[in-house]
Amino acid sequence: MPHPSAPHPDAAARIEPSLLPRLRAREPLLWPNPHARSMAAGAGALEPGFDIGAASARFERFRGLMRALFPALEPLEGAVASELRPLTRFAAALGGEGAWFLKGDHALPVAGSVKARGGFHEVLAHAERLALANGLLHPQQDPIALQAPEARAFFSRHTISVGSTGNLGLGIGLIAAGLGFQAEVHMSADAKAWKKQRLRDRGIRVVEHAGDFADALAGGRRRAEGDPLVHFVDDERSADLFLGYAVAARELAQQLAAIGRTPSPERPLFVHLPCGVGGSPGGITYGLKALFGDAVHAFFAEPVAAPCMLVQLSASGQGPLSVYDIGLDNRTDADGLAVAQASHLVAPLMRRRLGGVFTVRDEDLLRDVRRLQLSEQILLEPSAIAGARGPLHLMGSPEGRAYLQRHGLTSAMADATHVVWATGGALVPEAEHARCQALGERLLQEDAARGAQCAA
Ligand SMILES: Cc1ncc(COP(=O)(O)O)c(C=O)c1O
Repeated sequence: MPHPSAPHPDAAARIEPSLLPRLRAREPLLWPNPHARSMAAGAGALEPGFDIGAASARFERFRGLMRALFPALEPLEGAVASELRPLTRFAAALGGEGAWFLKGDHALPVAGSVKARGGFHEVLAHAERLALANGLLHPQQDPIALQAPEARAFFSRHTISVGSTGNLGLGIGLIAAGLGFQAEVHMSADAKAWKKQRLRDRGIRVVEHAGDFADALAGGRRRAEGDPLVHFVDDERSADLFLGYAVAARELAQQLAAIGRTPSPERPLFVHLPCGVGGSPGGITYGLKALFGDAVHAFFAEPVAAPCMLVQLSASGQGPLSVYDIGLDNRTDADGLAVAQASHLVAPLMRRRLGGVFTVRDEDLLRDVRRLQLSEQILLEPSAIAGARGPLHLMGSPEGRAYLQRHGLTSAMADATHVVWATGGALVPEAEHARCQALGERLLQEDAARGAQCAA
């Protein structure tokens, strides 16, 4: 549901005059981030309190328990990880240059989306702290001990609550319930019905709120306030979520090393990440910049109706700015990305790290969802394919070419590595996939018919 507030003339004045009409016209565009700064690789570049190594160690520590709780994690021996696969046929279908890969978080075991990385990490961190503080776990003990009936009985008196467009709720709900917690997910009333149903089917309480994602989040936050038995996972502010996503950078680094594509100035890495509130793409970017500094260029993909990170980062002056403030309505088929206001935690961290943001039309998401199925036999939800247009924006737009020139990358593009981060899809019901595929097919056929008419 669009937010009731009207565009705010003073707020809109914070956006560059040449950019504002293009955003309002919902034109797909690339905004290169003028605030980006050169960064040396190495953990020294990290802010205090953001310990990616500790988050990675936590995932390792919990592998035994995760394996025991979720049979789907057995083949990965309890690791939360996804494959990196070539995207050659899809790149050819779009006419892209360089070596394209797909990071398959759409198929992350158990929760089927990138949001599981952050969600799992935060729930594990919370469970571990509670268990240590209450004598259910000792510092050197394997967390598999948390399967014991007394630990589960203790957790069952506690609730893990979260506000979500759907996929974070699924990730959090499933792991929270797996550990024995009660789970509650706050969603906007117009979030996808199948996502709510899937949660309810798993015994997870769904609380619906009038308004948008931010309203659902605020409702959840309010309900949790002052109740020591409720832990609210805050998608706009949580460092534990952020660090869970950041760990994915290490996984990607290993996968790139294994195929001889470790990022370097001569062979740069471009990552193209769908962005909602900014936690998942922000954490991954943060982790990659820490590892590879200037050899990695991260770009966020946002719907033309909901470019919240673009609006926040491009605004002059202080304070938050939402897509409603500039007259956009936050209405998009990419429900995971339907967020009007960027994360307060993540936006400042991206200011000097992010290469830029590009925007995508819903029709192009549907075309690409269909193209991906036809060329690579991979089924994604619309939000999850948003990164696919990144390489084209970079090489095909004046803004993109200027970015490449400014960074001395033009001659490196023929062999650059592009990772299109696929962020969700495995849990989507067949009927919903069929609906999106049919819409995408119709658009492709209309394109083909128009092409034939022009040629005639
Ligand atoms: C499929 C999918 N992709 C991307 C995102 C964006 O993640 P974030 O909101 O952390 O930016 C979401 C968020 O729910 C999602 O569901």
